[in-house]
Amino acid sequence: MASIAVVGSGYVGLVAAACLAEIGHQVICVDNDPAKLATLQVGETPIHEEYLPQLLAKHRNRKLSFSGDLPKAVQQSDVIFIAVGTPPTASGDADLSYVESVAREIAGSMNAYKVIVEKSTVPVYTNEWVRRVMTLNGEPGCDFDVVSNPEFLREGTAVTDFLYPDRIVVGANTERAAQTMREVYGPLVDGEYYQKTDAVPRPECWRASNARLIETSAKSAELIKHASNAFLALKISFANAVANICEAVGADMEEVRQGIGSDNRIGPGFLRAGIGYGGSCFPKDVSAFKSVAREYGYEFGLLDEVHRINEDQRKRFIRKIRSALWTIKGKRLAVLGLAFKGGTDDIRESPALATIQQLISEGAQVRAFDPAAMDRARQVLQDGVSYCANEAECIRDADALLILTDWEQFGALDLSEVKRGLRYPIVIDGRNLYSPAAMQKAGLNYYSVGRAPVLVTNTENVKVQVAQ
Ligand code: UDX
Ligand code: UDX
Repeated sequence: MASIAVVGSGYVGLVAAACLAEIGHQVICVDNDPAKLATLQVGETPIHEEYLPQLLAKHRNRKLSFSGDLPKAVQQSDVIFIAVGTPPTASGDADLSYVESVAREIAGSMNAYKVIVEKSTVPVYTNEWVRRVMTLNGEPGCDFDVVSNPEFLREGTAVTDFLYPDRIVVGANTERAAQTMREVYGPLVDGEYYQKTDAVPRPECWRASNARLIETSAKSAELIKHASNAFLALKISFANAVANICEAVGADMEEVRQGIGSDNRIGPGFLRAGIGYGGSCFPKDVSAFKSVAREYGYEFGLLDEVHRINEDQRKRFIRKIRSALWTIKGKRLAVLGLAFKGGTDDIRESPALATIQQLISEGAQVRAFDPAAMDRARQVLQDGVSYCANEAECIRDADALLILTDWEQFGALDLSEVKRGLRYPIVIDGRNLYSPAAMQKAGLNYYSVGRAPVLVTNTENVKVQVAQ
């Protein structure tokens, strides 16, 4: 087993550190934020990730420790993962200043051969830069390799995504570094981890007996990450564009999604129409990939369209709200969802927050509930929003219910309770969590994405008149 340092205990670094300890390595998780370290050292989990609290409790002070002392962690480790933030700059490029400062600090701490691993999502030339920074700042002749090992973790399922990956991509430029990485991921690649009785439960969709390791050059590995995220974002924008055509012609996007998604060349995933994608990755990676392409002389115009459709989807949804409510000013709106997607507390680039901010600017009063993201939202949303303890309290006496984040529990509401709680029976669903038939049966006017609205003409009889 290896001694590993993971620099950065954010959404990616902390999950990687916990999972590397889980598969048997000795791990030091380093961070320069004393508050975050203090939280971790007392046994709290600063992010909402399934299985993460269990893994931290299982390995803390055994296979996993936390430290603010990067030089010492480097000297005690054979492999150093860099998992610090790479947020977008104003111009849309990736801000690599944290990666550079960490690389410089690692270089100054070297005491033997190490493998430096880029875990953060970085543009395709970063591996070369990290190498240069290490050479310029390290002792003459200090021995190291720089490997690209991009993460494909989805927030909310990051632990199972790490332990049950579709693939592990390692971009190494020497055999020595490649061999080190084979040992790091050995328990997953040879399947030994999956034999353990206390392994994290295997997700339904994972049918393999061991993880697939794809070895490439460093440049290819960096490009695989950007291309993967940009393609997933493209799929979502394509689905949203088709949904808008469905609305225009009177087709049903949920039917269309099944019809095209069942083609195994297309696949059912990432075709859910809604208010668009958000999060700390897709928006950033689409613009970073475009910047990198332009840097190397290729105008990736397709990505402009992916971004434009995504932005436009939010504006279309605000227009949908206006068409349902007529006026927004002074309306009491119940909003379910603040996080950028269900299963996470992360509100970075959340379409739900953007929608709420627009509604407040137009004079609406918003009552919001989210199972995990309310604390983070409070720090961002000014007044105009009140926070509720649950769905029922949020809905009570509201003029309409808006569903903006696809939390599973928001798709399993008691619709008769919803109707009883609302002042007007109006539900505007930005994530298509319900079927029109269920809404019709409950006597609720229902507006969603890519489908005709369900208008209940009379709250007594449930005769439904589909909008022309
Ligand atoms: C980050 C990148 O943003 C993403 O593109 C990449 O795919 C994975 O790593 P995330 O984990 O969400 O994603 O970043 P963030 O939540 O911002 O965490 C970064 C952590 O690094 C923070 O805890 C921060 O305190 C720490 N950090 C940052 C350091 O320890 N040292 C630094 O110099 C900078
Ligand atoms: C994404 C990638 O999936 C992951 O591989 C990468 O490592 C990091 O970025 P994440 O951003 O955590 O993960 O969430 P994801 O589940 O991909 O959703 C991203 C956004 O797309 C969310 O706002 C979600 O609501 C939206 N989405 C997703 C859709 O609108 N429709 C879909 O069909 C799927």
